[in-house]
Amino acid sequence: MKADLSTPKIDRGLDDIYVKETSICFIDGQRGRLVYRGYDIRELAEYSTFEETVFLLLQGHLPNSAELEKAKADLAASRTLPPSVLKLLRTMPEHAPPMDVLRTAVSYMSGFDPERDDSTRAANLRKALRLTAQLATVVATYERIRKGQRVLRPDPRLGHAEDFLRMITGKRPDPARARMMDVALVLYADHGMNASTFGATVAASTLADLYSTVVGAIATLKGPLHGGAIEAALNMIETIGKPDLAENFVLNTLRNKEKVYGFGHRVYKTYDPRALIMKDYARKLAQMQGDDTYFRIAATIEDTVVRELASKRVFPNVDFYSGLVFHGLGIPTDLFTPVFALSRISGWTAHVIEYWEDNRLLRPLDWYVGPRDLAYVPLDERA
Ligand SMILES: CC(C)(COP(=O)(O)OP(=O)(O)OC[C@H]1O[C@@H](n2cnc3c(N)ncnc32)[C@H](O)[C@@H]1OP(=O)(O)O)[C@@H](O)C(=O)NCCC(=O)NCCS
Repeated sequence: MKADLSTPKIDRGLDDIYVKETSICFIDGQRGRLVYRGYDIRELAEYSTFEETVFLLLQGHLPNSAELEKAKADLAASRTLPPSVLKLLRTMPEHAPPMDVLRTAVSYMSGFDPERDDSTRAANLRKALRLTAQLATVVATYERIRKGQRVLRPDPRLGHAEDFLRMITGKRPDPARARMMDVALVLYADHGMNASTFGATVAASTLADLYSTVVGAIATLKGPLHGGAIEAALNMIETIGKPDLAENFVLNTLRNKEKVYGFGHRVYKTYDPRALIMKDYARKLAQMQGDDTYFRIAATIEDTVVRELASKRVFPNVDFYSGLVFHGLGIPTDLFTPVFALSRISGWTAHVIEYWEDNRLLRPLDWYVGPRDLAYVPLDERA
């Protein structure tokens, strides 16, 4: 179609558009840096915990010991689901995708929150903490229900990540695996104005309640270009099956103009710092398991993509090695995106609460290119 001379510049993908100021998350895509509230992700991965990171994102500063103890106690106390939510999980359609279950459960859970319609900042922070606590239990509980296993109640004596793994796998993880889960949740907790956070922010800008914003975020996270990439990346590694076949698989994929999942990023034009941490964990898990087949396939994929797409500045993103780590921790593949969600809930809610401090309805325009002056044709005269 010939461009109308008056066509405005259309920002497909909103690539370079800023929609708000933020003090939550800074990403330097050129240098591969990620910072939460001023703290480098590599330091947080080394020293912090998910509970502390949730506090940091929501409250804006690192907690002192009394604040941290309270945040941990509040999170642990909120992990238990209301009986009706358990009932809902038991009545989900057979083979319901876990992301759909999570989306439905959050929507349903809003009805049990006495503060649902209290839009004060203090109430929103409390709701954010409750939802963060409960999402992990929803995912773990649904996993056990669909497998016909006994549902395990949360254990408030355990840390969030450790308890999640215990509820999923049925046994308490060793300290190394518990720490890997914890760090994975820290790494996924926030990432600026990504698609799902934007989805949440659009809902927030209409002054919908916090639960509705999270439902919007979960729906947006589901797609393979966003959260679904972790699952797609592991499926690719499993399909390849042998390290020797990995290079040709990648070359064929690129020849067919298809995407290699777990690579490329709208913001990072170098290594995603989280991918490097996850790669290290994937290597450690392979050693612990005494089988490095998948790790060697992944490393060959990485070498090939980085070599072939160097000019396009395509590197592994966090999702590439996360699949291997989650798999090694005993998490089923179709729960990878829900695991992403149960961490990112902290970032979604922090951004939404920040947005409400200076709210403006998000309402972009689209440029109409269809016909304008068609004459209405009565039904019996249409071909
Ligand atoms: C994430 C993603 C959507 C970013 O897209 P984007 O910013 O629009 O990337 P671009 O389209 O600018 O990429 C630049 C070039 O690299 C190519 N490219 C980017 N990611 C690629 C990938 N994973 N595999 C193969 N080629 C890729 C693009 O096709 C494009 O090539 P072209 O210039 O010949 O058209 C994209 O990299 C992708 O689909 N990755 C796979 C899915 C994934 O891992 N998502 C998780 C993101 S955290």
